[in-house]
Amino acid sequence: MTGPAELAERFGTPSYVYDLDRVARARADLFAALPAGVEVFYAAKANPHPELLRELRTGGCHAEISSVGELDAALLAGFPGDRILYTGPGKTAEELTEALTRGVRLFSTESLGDLRRVGETARKTGVTADCLLRVNHATGAAATSIRMTGVPSQFGFDSETLPGLAADLREVPGTRIAGLHFFPLSNAKDEAGLIAEFRHTVAAAATLQRDLGVTFRLLDIGGGFAAPYAVRGDRPVYGPLRDALTDALDEHFPDWRDGAPRIACESGRYLVADSGTLLTSVVNVKDSRGQRYAVLDAGINTFGGMSGLGRIMPVTVEPHESAGPGGGPLTHLAGPLCTPGDLLGRNVPLPGAAPGDLLTVPNAGAYGPTASLLMFLGRPAPAEIVVRGDTLVSVSRIRHQRTYDHGQAPR
Ligand SMILES: Cc1ncc(COP(=O)(O)O)c(C=O)c1O
Repeated sequence: MTGPAELAERFGTPSYVYDLDRVARARADLFAALPAGVEVFYAAKANPHPELLRELRTGGCHAEISSVGELDAALLAGFPGDRILYTGPGKTAEELTEALTRGVRLFSTESLGDLRRVGETARKTGVTADCLLRVNHATGAAATSIRMTGVPSQFGFDSETLPGLAADLREVPGTRIAGLHFFPLSNAKDEAGLIAEFRHTVAAAATLQRDLGVTFRLLDIGGGFAAPYAVRGDRPVYGPLRDALTDALDEHFPDWRDGAPRIACESGRYLVADSGTLLTSVVNVKDSRGQRYAVLDAGINTFGGMSGLGRIMPVTVEPHESAGPGGGPLTHLAGPLCTPGDLLGRNVPLPGAAPGDLLTVPNAGAYGPTASLLMFLGRPAPAEIVVRGDTLVSVSRIRHQRTYDHGQAPR
């Protein structure tokens, strides 16, 4: 009994349904698309639900995290500290201490100052941190809407000036340089572009290894693996990528098959996007100056990865049995919040929408609740229902409530 109507009836809306079978399939497809031996770090930011993290851990993934909250989720899911990479441009001494104390040893660093902060914290904790130097390369190859390099940025060392820092970087107490970390783009438009980007990254990494005079033990070449987001469609299943990446690695890092260096990729959306479906109900339908609005119980507080990040994407909704038949104008999908910015979609075909109808948004497993304005207007977080095929695994809800540090509430 894991159909949308049954789950909506039982657990209410808005709610997310994640199917672990689909996570397992995506994981298998990604491993099959990569040369044997390439490690996959799951980017917990895409969906830090511990059940999904656990599925990916048992499937052989490592975890990439960027906060203590994600650290909690990864440890709860059973990741040992030595299978976790801590990344992010604003790592504070407090969170570094917590991560180091709880067993994380691998960190991505964005600047000399960041590296020094990691080193200082590691020394105080009595350990040595393995550090990747994140690279903001001056050039890239693939087409994407989300490119993170080649421009001034809080992310990474500028590739042009990185070699000049070599002496300083090698001498930061409490750290050992493990290698490089690239994450030039998300959601590459096509496989040819993804291949071009990886070729570019591998060649750039080899040049930087030589220029820095450091032998890498780990090279994280990033990701860019694509997935449909809130629209109908299938995840790409990559083909030529495997051989192309093998060739690039053989050419530039001839000992990589022996783990010198270990090669890693990162992926968030590819692994979890198609496991998730958002269930939402129509609360009200109204016409205004010739345009129709369906007001839903899910808005950017529930599914804010689109509008909350400044983008309204094309969104597909599938009406379920409860929805009425018939035509009707294209409909704007509004959320319940008191802001005109609470729009999930514009001009969506939604025949005959009526209050009480159940709608589903497909491919919603990545950048869902935790990429949303969850606290805005104090609405409850959506239920997150985990299934494995026809079996219900768990139902949970993120709770947010104010607590007072010194125990006294205002009177
Ligand atoms: C460093 C890093 N790794 C991984 C990811 C995950 O990206 P995606 O979900 O597109 O795979 C991101 C996304 O912003 C990122 O910044």
